[in-house]
Amino acid sequence: MKNISKQRAPFVMPELPYAHDALAPHISAETIDYHYGKHLQGYINNLNTLVQGSGFENADLKEILKSSSGALFNNAAQVWNHTLYFSQLSPTPQSRPQSILGAAIGRDFGSYEAFVEQFTKSALSLFGSGWTWLVADKSGRLSIENTSNAAIPVTDGKNPLMVIDVWEHAYYIDHRNLRAESVKAFWNILDWRVAQQRY
Ligand SMILES: [Fe+2]
Repeated sequence: MKNISKQRAPFVMPELPYAHDALAPHISAETIDYHYGKHLQGYINNLNTLVQGSGFENADLKEILKSSSGALFNNAAQVWNHTLYFSQLSPTPQSRPQSILGAAIGRDFGSYEAFVEQFTKSALSLFGSGWTWLVADKSGRLSIENTSNAAIPVTDGKNPLMVIDVWEHAYYIDHRNLRAESVKAFWNILDWRVAQQRY
């Protein structure tokens, strides 16, 4: 996927690096049809409408995220969040973090297993809609962060490495109300190569 932060209006859908049915059985084609094809498309459409007359017509997405508020911010952030989310999934993922990121996870969480446990707990404790992130601060130190609704962690200078969408629309088709099942499935298709590239 192209660097979404540098895009300007009119915003276009990021291309998926896999077919809609490629992540099954962990994420079904129907979920991708709706989550990517309807929800993300909706945020893109809203963003293109809201940016008109906002003073941000010539701004790139990063600038909009930094300086806008209300509905414009919410839709811009959802475009950004979903682009990061979809682009880190793969039917042939690197299933464990390696090299520098793998070492940093060991350093900051004790072990990969301890990280997965802590991240899962965080995702399950998030009340309502939002996102659970693995972020790095400027010194490279890792932490887990929850954000509500469309909020993004970069607003306080953190670099997001990977993220899970815990809005119900991300899992209701496949798992109904069972968020825990969706978090469990997520680990099978998360490509740590992408997180390493972002680190
Ligand atoms: Fe979503």
